Formats: sequence, structure tokens, C-alpha cells
Amino acid sequence: MKFALSLLVICAFQHTSLAAPSALTKRLENGLGRTPALGYNNWNNGGCTHATAESALNVANLLISLGLKDAGYTYVNTDDCWSSNSRNSTGHLVPDPTKWPQGIKPVADEIHSMGLKFGLYGDAGIMTCAGYPGSQGHEVQDALTLAEWDVDYWKHDACYLPCGDSGDVPQGCYDPNSSTKPYYGIMRDALAEAGRPIFFSICNWGRDSVWTWGKDYGNSWRMSNDIANNWGSVASIAARAAGIAEYAGPGGFNDLDMLQVGNGGLNENEERAHVGLWAIAKSPLLIGTDLSKLQNSTLNILKNKALIAINQDTLGKAATYFQPAGASAPVDGSLYPYWAGPLSDGVVVGIVASEGAANLSVSFADVPGLGSGSWEWSEAFTGATGEGTGVSADLPAHDMRVYKVSKGTLMYSVR
Ligand code: GLA
Repeated sequence: MKFALSLLVICAFQHTSLAAPSALTKRLENGLGRTPALGYNNWNNGGCTHATAESALNVANLLISLGLKDAGYTYVNTDDCWSSNSRNSTGHLVPDPTKWPQGIKPVADEIHSMGLKFGLYGDAGIMTCAGYPGSQGHEVQDALTLAEWDVDYWKHDACYLPCGDSGDVPQGCYDPNSSTKPYYGIMRDALAEAGRPIFFSICNWGRDSVWTWGKDYGNSWRMSNDIANNWGSVASIAARAAGIAEYAGPGGFNDLDMLQVGNGGLNENEERAHVGLWAIAKSPLLIGTDLSKLQNSTLNILKNKALIAINQDTLGKAATYFQPAGASAPVDGSLYPYWAGPLSDGVVVGIVASEGAANLSVSFADVPGLGSGSWEWSEAFTGATGEGTGVSADLPAHDMRVYKVSKGTLMYSVR
């Protein structure tokens, strides 16, 4: 029986295992992103609308007044549409003067004086996705500009790159033989030489199996198409992340995309699961909603100390699926209810009512890294604590519970 259980657990991990461990050792060493980035990005709150100095400063103030800075959210990132339509006569990027009347640096300075960090967005191709100047051919110049402006974080998108043999440069390229990788290498090297540590956020939507090389190139890498403001999108991105968990580690993480909580497409249960899944998958947590209109329930989810501590655990290992004895196997593309992963001081176990209301239970004997016996646990959303051989919860559709199970507190073992 014990052997059968172990076999099931091994099978569950084999299901999601994609690469030899030796491939996972090398990482971009710029000292940044040792834990997933926490902060804000304006894109999910109205696209181009808020790519302005005023908005960045409002966000910075609200991160502080709402207690989000104290909870760990420090990056204030502006996405696409912050720049002018063309470069200046010397080829430099220019902020749109109506959106950034003082330019970028004074805004970055002010945000720094508030104890926060400032991020900007650009593109590896000839234009950004919204049609502003891209960095292709200007990588060194742009990296130096960012360093001059004291930018801390650079998101590098993948629109308008060469596609296929035809010479086409479309907004999005789906030719499997056209690799984005070399373009990210050029920008990585340019940033490394620019004289300022700048977090390098790769955004190629999971092209070229970016998780297999992203760790040598950037501090995080988007592994999917853009998140949409609905549960189906959240569930499908999380399901995909489970299969590539092993690539996450200090210095480089799978980026499941910016959060949609607060934007009205998810109910409270789904918001819990969205942040819970992103947290245990060790994704960056970048808030993407109007902070001035945040409901208390959303704010409490975002500020959940236990959850953030799990996301920011120094071990940096992402949780993935495990298959409890008697449960059916995960199905590719569908969100599975059972998750677990190692922490520096324990194991995280996540259960999510992925298909509808469910009574879900987990026996610790089935959890990789735990085993038979009695263990102490605490649950992040309810604050419940206990000890025993497992946990169970009656969950409404799409709700989640995240348990930290403490290894050091094994009460007794039958092993
Ligand atoms: C792409 C990215 C998004 C966002 C937009 C901006 O779609 O994946 O995250 O940055 O471009 O145009």
C-alpha cells in the first residue's frame, strides 16, 4: 500500500516533470528577483489609459496608505503607452510630454523617496504592442537611458519581431521556427552593462518554451498569453504553471501575468484562488486594478501575511500538482485541485475547488515532502491552525485554502 502511494506520488511528479535537473542550475546573476516581484502594473486597469506620471504617483501613495507597501508590494510599474510616438533626433526614447510633464527621472526619484521602486515597459521588436517605439537595434542606448532615469524594472514585450522567412514583422508571431530568444539575450546584456541593477522581466507569452531558458536571461518570464478578467483564464494559466513549476528558483520565476483581482470579473472565492495559486506557484504578484476603489475583501486577500510569506519564501520553489491516493489523475489543460511544494521551513499544500463546490481532503501521507504521522498546520485565508494527519475543507466553487505544514513540528511518525 505504502509502495503504491509512493508510486502515485512519483507518477504525479513525472506528469509535470519536463527537464533534467542539471539544466536548472544556471541563472541570470544580477542579484535581483531572489523572490518573486511584488508590486503594481497599470495595464489591467484600462490598458493605455493610466501610463502617466500622475497615475504612477497616485499608485505609490495608495500602496503606502492602504498598507500594501508594508505588506511587501514595492514595484510601481508603468506599462505600454508611456512614450512618444517616435524617438528623438539622437534615437533616444522620449516620454510623452503630456503624460510625463517633468520626464521620467523626477517621478522615479519621488517614488524612490517613498521607499518604492519604479518600473517601465518596452519591447524587443520594432514597436511595442500598442505601436510605440520598440528597442530592436537600440538596446544598448535604451538600457543606458533606463539607467540614467533610475528605472528599477524593465518589462520587455515581444510584439513586432521578425516572423518566418517572409520578412513579415507582425504584431504577434506564431511561427514556431522564429525564436524570440536572441532578442532577449541582446537586451539582457545591454542591461547588464548599463551600470544599474535593473530587474529584467521577459514578456514573450510563453513562446520558445521560455521557462527552459528564461532563468539564464531574465528575473521572470511570462509563460502564457495575456490573462483575461475571468475565472477560465485564471484556471488555465494556473494549470499550465503546474507543468513548469520546476523552473522557478531564486533569481528567475515563472510569471503567470498581472493580477485581475478588483476588476469585477472574479467573485471573492475566485479572487482568493487567483492570488493563492499565483502565490504558491511563486509568480510575481503585480496588482492591476484601481487601488482607490479596492473592496476590503480584495485588499485583505492581497495583504494576507501568511500567503505573502509563502510566495516570498527564500527557497523559491514553486508548488505543483500531487495526486492523492484514490483521486483521479490531472488532465492536461484543466486545473487540478491538489497542489504542494517545498518551503524553507515546511511544505505548502493548496486545495482549490476547481470544478465546483467540493469537500476536499488531503492526507499528509500523500503529500511529497510530508508523510505518515501527525503534523502542525496553519491555513492562510481562515487563520485556522491545527495538527493531525491531514486537512479537509468544504469549499464553494473556485475557492481555495492554502496550508503551511511545518516540518519541524512532526508530532509522531509511523515511518
Ligand atoms: C502585451 C503584453 C501585456 C501588455 C500589452 C501592452 O499584450 O502581454 O502584458 O503589456 O502588451 O500593449
